[in-house]
Amino acid sequence: MPRFPLLAGPTPYEAAPHLAAALGLGRLHVKREDLSGAALGGNKIRSIELILGAARAAGADTVLTTAASQSNFCRALAGCAARAGMGCRLLLRRAGGMEETGNLLLMRLFGAEIAWTDATDPWDPAITAELDAMADAVRAEGGVPFVVQLPGETAALAASAWALAAEELVEDFDRAGSAPDLLALACGSGLTLAGLALGFAELGLPVRLLGVSVQQPVSRLRPWVEEVVGRTAALLGWDAAGAMDRVTITDDRIAPGYAKPSPDGLDALRLAARTEGLALDPSYTAKAMAGLAGAVGGLVPRRGAAAFLHSGGTPTLFQQAAALR
Ligand SMILES: Cc1ncc(COP(=O)(O)O)c(C=O)c1O
Repeated sequence: MPRFPLLAGPTPYEAAPHLAAALGLGRLHVKREDLSGAALGGNKIRSIELILGAARAAGADTVLTTAASQSNFCRALAGCAARAGMGCRLLLRRAGGMEETGNLLLMRLFGAEIAWTDATDPWDPAITAELDAMADAVRAEGGVPFVVQLPGETAALAASAWALAAEELVEDFDRAGSAPDLLALACGSGLTLAGLALGFAELGLPVRLLGVSVQQPVSRLRPWVEEVVGRTAALLGWDAAGAMDRVTITDDRIAPGYAKPSPDGLDALRLAARTEGLALDPSYTAKAMAGLAGAVGGLVPRRGAAAFLHSGGTPTLFQQAAALR
């Protein structure tokens, strides 16, 4: 697959003994994908390596995408596009707030052109139509657009990066002495979870995956993740059979809503900060850590071994300063 290199190397896999003890775990490791380097990092950088690889292979000079106004993905794409010498146009959902702080501030700083939509649901077909019109505008100006639709056509490509990352995690587990019983991660579009589920199945890794939804109900997310597993397997020429068997998805940490901090999420955020000096973000990783805390004694035994994917999102920590105070 064509790849535009952005990661400097494998991301760290760090022991977090104080947080493990506070959660009642025997062992906890944190996969530091927040340190994935480019454009302030996060779990989308691996996917963007393949997205920009595909865009360049298609002869594109401008990438376009759409998400919420504080999207980590849009921030990362804007920064990585700058690094690739490409233009970036973003269609952002106004409902997420228009104040230029956090990721939105960074999108501007990275030089992205920003347009606004009134649609509130990422799956609203109106958004696709608006994005297509923006791509037409690039063509009319003589450019070559590449449209990135994470909940659509680009899903399998983005998830492939995480299927391929499973090999890196096997090396992490080997160095740590053994694989964890459970790996917990935040789930937005579910592409990271889908990729990992496929990659773990391909490598025969007996690790349960806990996807903590921060946006969608399980009834919508699980069939979608399953569909992406199938599409990604087809793209990679792998076998999707059994990939969902070790996947658990919960939606009990979403309240009070997407990108809105929750009391138990903020407790988890404070705990990680004070036990390990680890900065989580209120929208994704704090809720995922709360989900992991709730899984101890259930999906992972007390004194058992767990891993946590720190998927980034740090800019929203500052954007949500008022809630934290
Ligand atoms: C910080 C952070 N963590 C987790 C996720 C969820 O990843 P995915 O969309 O692959 O489910 C996102 C998605 O935007 C994110 O920004």
